[in-house]
Formats: sequence, C-alpha cells, structure tokens
Amino acid sequence: VLVEKQGFRHFMHKEIYEQPAVVRTCLEAYFNREWQPGDNQVAPINLGINPELYTDLQQIEILACGTSWHAGLVGKYLLEQLAGIPTSVNYASEYRYAPAPLRPYTLAIGISQSGETADTLAALAMENQRRTGLSAAYQARLLGITNRPESSLGNLVADIINTHAGIEIGVAATKTFVAQLMAFYSLALDLAYRRKTLPEARIEEIIQGLRQLPVQIEQVLSSQEGSIEELAHEFAETQDFIFLGRGINFPIALEGALKLKEISYIHAEGYPAGEMKHGPIALLDAKVPVVAIAMPGTVYEKVISNAQEAKARDARLIGVTPQNGFDAAEIFNDVLQVPVVDELLSPILAVIPLQLLAYHIAARRGLDVDQPRNLAKSVTVE
Ligand code: G6P
Repeated sequence: VLVEKQGFRHFMHKEIYEQPAVVRTCLEAYFNREWQPGDNQVAPINLGINPELYTDLQQIEILACGTSWHAGLVGKYLLEQLAGIPTSVNYASEYRYAPAPLRPYTLAIGISQSGETADTLAALAMENQRRTGLSAAYQARLLGITNRPESSLGNLVADIINTHAGIEIGVAATKTFVAQLMAFYSLALDLAYRRKTLPEARIEEIIQGLRQLPVQIEQVLSSQEGSIEELAHEFAETQDFIFLGRGINFPIALEGALKLKEISYIHAEGYPAGEMKHGPIALLDAKVPVVAIAMPGTVYEKVISNAQEAKARDARLIGVTPQNGFDAAEIFNDVLQVPVVDELLSPILAVIPLQLLAYHIAARRGLDVDQPRNLAKSVTVE
C-alpha cells in the first residue's frame, strides 16, 4: 500500500491528526445507533465475537507489549470498574515463562497493533496449549485485539476485535493506541450490558460521551499544537522528565513517558502520582520537568496536591488539565489544555497533548521521528 505524508513532515504527525477519524470509524464499527436504554430488540454494542467467550467468565488475563500493554492497563480499569471482572495485565515476555496459575472460566486477551509481536503470540499459544485436553471450564478462551486481522495473531485466535486504525508507519504508536482504547471501551461496555453491572442509562451516557471525542480531539489539536511546539523549544537541554497520573490516567503517564523516550531519547519515567513520595521525588530539581495529568474526577485533588509537592522541589510543572474549578495557571508553569469530560473518557483526550509534546521535542532536536534508533515497528523475534 502506498501511504503518503500528505503535507506533514513526518508520518507520526500525520497519524496524530488521523485520530479523530479513527475514533469515528471505531464508533461506527462497535456501537449501534438504534439502541436506547430499555430496548431489548437490539444490543448497544456489536463486536461480532463468539458470546461463549463471555459465559460464566470469572477473570481476564491481558497479554501485550509496549504501547499495547499500556492500552491493556486502561482496559483493566474499564473491565474491572464497569463490568466487575477481575483483570490482570501482563507483559507477554514475562507471562510466557511464568503464567498465572490455571483457573477456570478465564479469558486471555492478546493485544497487538501489528499482530506479529513474537512474545505476544507465544504467550497466547502457551495459554492455548496448557489448557488443551482439560475440562470444559478450563478450556482456553482467546480474544485478539489487533489493527491487522490478517496477521499471525488473527490466524492464531478465532475471535478478533479489529481496531480499524489503518496502516501506521511511525514506529511510535499513536492512532493505533487510541483505537485500542476504543476497543476496550466497547468490550467493557458490552460485558457490563450483558452482565447488568451498570444501569443502561449510564451505558447510554458513556456511549454519548464517546461520540463527542472526535470533535474534542480536534479541539485539542487545533488549540494546543502551537503552544506545545513553542514549549518544546525549552527542552533542548533536558535530560529527564517525570510523568504523573493516577487512576485511569496512570497508564497515560506511562504512555507519555514512553513516547518521549522512544523518539526524543530523553530519559522519562511515568509514575502513579501517589507513589512519587516513595522514590522518584528524590530526583526532582529545577532541571527535571514534571508533567501531571490532572483530569476532574475521583483523584483530581489528589493529583493536584502531588503536583504541588513536585513544584515545592523547584520542578517545572506542566499540567494536562482543563481550565476549570481552580486557577490552573497558578499551580502549573505550563498548561496543555483539554476539554472537560467524564473522567472515564479522559485518557483518550489526555494522551493527545503528550503525543504532540514528544513529537515536537524530537522534531526540534532534528531526530528521525518515524524511525527512531534501535527500535522496530514490529518485533517478530523474541
Ligand atoms: C514495538 C513498537 C512499539 C509497540 C510494541 C508492541 O516495540 O516499537 O511501538 O508498542 O512493539 O507492538 P504491537 O504490534 O504488538 O502492538
């Protein structure tokens, strides 16, 4: 397939801008416009996966690497908080040699953008193999989430959620990550609907919120790009960054740090904001910028107070936050502004300015954004 940059200097930048369209495609593919609360003629979510995967389900094991593992962490939050299903997220490279003890009624979800990551394939194959010949309750149940249903992952597992992001060229995953998150929203809501763990009115409210995301991502892109590009100039000499988040946005802190490491070669750590006091706070001084993801919701005030602790150590404080409720300008040195949304939906908006920040820092440094040193788009060897 011939894919062009269409006026963007780098594929990564183009792919960041494709995200509103990718979310629209996922909305069309996964959700049923006809459904309303109380309607039992149609279901709100259509994933086209075998309903037997869900029968008597007791827990979920997510297996993935890299950015897909971060999507899995958001997935765990959704599956546990919306559908009440205990969920573990595993690095495939670890799980394949030290799997969880065998338990019945377990769904294993392999998540891989490329569908070709050797460790993820091996972990799923191992899970399948060790359950072969066991009683019905222990039979392997495998689900793949991938951007390439025609891949090895697609061949290995019978049931797939296609993430519909289109081909991604930049080694640092952007639009495929957002699409993976959409797949987890749809899966968690489908399970919540079938298991009746959420009122239908709440399911409707979340789906309506998801439908606003494309326009909100567009707002972030158009309102923030200029200031993020300018801000990026100030980190020419920076050697370390800390990213803080809590709750559903802790994985977004990890993802923001990973994007920066991958393409700018700046050392960056993502941390749950409440853990900072148990170690990383010792790193802080005026030379280490701190990015805090502070989205209104259950842990909002907590993140703000963790950020203030960082500021008291002279750290330059960058907030990913809406401007409301308190004067963000007073707490943060710089604000990467995002719209106010339901906390549950906030990861998809919070990640956008972090992608732009990593992109502009790397581009400013004159680095090969689309082909960073030592990295490959898909890692087909162990
Ligand atoms: C490589 C890529 C990462 C990606 C990871 C997992 O390391 O450079 O961007 O997140 O593989 O890839 P997958 O295709 O399995 O999602």
